[in-house]
Amino acid sequence: MKLTSEQAAGRIMVALDYPSADAAEHLIAELQGIPCYMKVGMQLFYAAGPSFVQSLKERGYFVFLDVKMHDIPNTVKGGANSVTKLGVDMFNVHAAGGSAMLEAALEGVDIALTGSGIIKPTIIAVTHLTSTNQLMLNEQIGIGGTVETAVLRYAELAKSAGLDGVVASPSEVKAIKAACGPTFKTVTPGIRPKGADVNDQSRIMTPSEALSQGTDYMVIGRPITAANKPRAALESIIEELTTYE
Ligand code: C5P
Repeated sequence: MKLTSEQAAGRIMVALDYPSADAAEHLIAELQGIPCYMKVGMQLFYAAGPSFVQSLKERGYFVFLDVKMHDIPNTVKGGANSVTKLGVDMFNVHAAGGSAMLEAALEGVDIALTGSGIIKPTIIAVTHLTSTNQLMLNEQIGIGGTVETAVLRYAELAKSAGLDGVVASPSEVKAIKAACGPTFKTVTPGIRPKGADVNDQSRIMTPSEALSQGTDYMVIGRPITAANKPRAALESIIEELTTYE
């Protein structure tokens, strides 16, 4: 299936990993008119806060709030309730928090939605960070087996708790879809266009390789934000996706 430019842009989540709203606004202005998702992670959210997220929503952007909640169930329930009230389109929690925590997140969302007219956000679980490799998993985190097995276990946990999908590496998408079904969403960081700097990512793929795996959304940061010409970098990724068959 060939994607239109708009469909391709809608699958790209630009990681606004900036220290301030001003710095992020610079990039947002540069990318104006391209209907991609904006991903607000902890660096920007801790600096610019809820008002920045609300302002993105007021301007019509799709927003993924990547704050990776991981705490006791009652606290995550409260966190999920607060971010749902901000009107974000997607947010995430760590699968490692276990099913009680994941279900508490859903409860927090439901409470925020009741009688509010807010559209339900997509709730995604973080499996293993795309910077995690086998050695770290086995020797530092203390989980045996392969990264893929560990990711799948978390994906199945998230699915059975009622979440909408997971963050994972593009190389895990096929196995996740096979285990959790085709509508279970996959959000994949670790995307690097051919020749781009790998930075601290471990499990990477190019945009078209990720698309061929069936990923729903690809998170892309530094290949766009650190490029000399960020708009051209994003356009070239969109072009790669629209020409891919
Ligand atoms: O710059 P780069 O493309 O590596 O940015 C990837 C983005 O995706 C960062 O904002 C990072 O926090 C986020 N992310 C990730 N791995 C995960 C979850 C989120 O790299 N498992």
